[in-house]
Amino acid sequence: EEQTRLIVVANRLPVVAKMGPDRKWNLTKSAGGLVSALLGIHSSYETTWVGWPGVFADPGPERDALTEALKEHNCAPVYLDEDVVELYYNGYCNNVLWPLFHYVPLPLEARLAETKNLQTQWSAYCDANQQFAQCVIEHYEPGDIVWCHDYHVLLLPRILKEQIPSMKVGWFLHTPFPSSEIYRALPRREEILRGVLKSDLIGFHTYDYARHFVSACTRILGLEGTPEGVEDAGTVTRLKQTFNGRKVMLGVDRLDMIKGIPQKLLAFEMFLDEHPEWREKVILVQIAVPSRTHVPEYQRLASLVHEMVGRINGRFGTVGSVPIHHLDRSLSFLELCALYALTDVALVTPVRDGMNLVSYEVVACQSKNAGVLVLSEFAGAAQSLGAGAVLVNPWNVSDLSSAIEEALTMSDTERRERHRQNFMHVTIHTAQQWADTFVSELNDTHVEAALRT
Ligand code: UDP
Ligand code: G6P
Repeated sequence: EEQTRLIVVANRLPVVAKMGPDRKWNLTKSAGGLVSALLGIHSSYETTWVGWPGVFADPGPERDALTEALKEHNCAPVYLDEDVVELYYNGYCNNVLWPLFHYVPLPLEARLAETKNLQTQWSAYCDANQQFAQCVIEHYEPGDIVWCHDYHVLLLPRILKEQIPSMKVGWFLHTPFPSSEIYRALPRREEILRGVLKSDLIGFHTYDYARHFVSACTRILGLEGTPEGVEDAGTVTRLKQTFNGRKVMLGVDRLDMIKGIPQKLLAFEMFLDEHPEWREKVILVQIAVPSRTHVPEYQRLASLVHEMVGRINGRFGTVGSVPIHHLDRSLSFLELCALYALTDVALVTPVRDGMNLVSYEVVACQSKNAGVLVLSEFAGAAQSLGAGAVLVNPWNVSDLSSAIEEALTMSDTERRERHRQNFMHVTIHTAQQWADTFVSELNDTHVEAALRT
């Protein structure tokens, strides 16, 4: 049987390139939920990825070598210039859209600076979307499904449809879509909505995000509509000794202001403060994967977090050990699975998060341990894993600290029952099922649209 050809377009390719000391390219897996979700799709598609390789390479033999290496991973690179990346990726995507979509207010100074830069950032954003479109068109064959992802390519569906009206184009947002009251502060609000509306199918993680999108279209463009979307989803124990029989609490996050890392640390500090009996018995392993390190807000966050970890370890550490193991790095898939498997309590505490795949991954790896998931009600995943998780408002530090205690002292029966419910959910709602549903609905919509015209 012939495989469906799928072109996936996302700013981030599934591998990032780095030049080694031997002037050869090293490719490693990219971090982030978007890539994890798409790499979870195994069968039934012949996939080409279009996206930015994460490095700058001038035209010439080195660039050609990288293009060749990426081809082996079915990736088609879009070589954005350094100044485009600064204005489009660091600027418009991650300093304007990302905070706005996650309800993070920027300090006034930063906001005003943005306002001044907005025109050049916007042009770079348009430019980058054009370049993605061009690369898609170079690889497109009639009948292909083109699936665009996330807030980096909001204009892409429209550009593609204007060039090839018969193209099957879908778009999926991996972040929240905010309330229209927030969204309408965006200076280019109309163009952006019109950009994605040209898709045959638009998908969001939760019903609320779809509802917000529809009301933005109604209020800003005067359109009416009902949303048709899909939901996302998502053993080794040698490490155990390292932690000396202590209970292990785990956080795995990109170092991002939406992840609520400072809130988590404050709550852990309060917990240790109020429960001296736990000080020698529990450890928090926090994996903080470096992210968007050229954006000033992310640099400030890194210093803040380091300062807090230092303070807490200084306060509660002993000569032999400290309560927080903080790592500024990413882990390999196997290391991550091992950590997930031995964790007693996972702390997933974002102040906003589209879905949060880490919560799904922990549940998937915990069939033996049946550890507890402490989960923010502001993660999209709260709507699917809420039944089994201990839900918290990360802004309420004492509530979060109590949740830590509840999780650490929960009875075996309750832990197993909670885990069972969530495990059932994540085994049914896999990445494969998510992609299959999206693609088949996209096909259906496309057929219906053809019949109407
Ligand atoms: N992850 C990774 N390397 C690491 C730590 C995490 O690739 O060192 C992965 C993790 O397995 C998960 C993804 O990054 O699939 C994070 O996705 P999530 O939806 O939780 O948050 P996002 O980073 O997309 O905001
Ligand atoms: C989030 C976004 C993705 C992005 C990922 C990692 O999951 O929704 O689009 O790829 O973060 O961020 P980065 O900026 O490194 O691609």
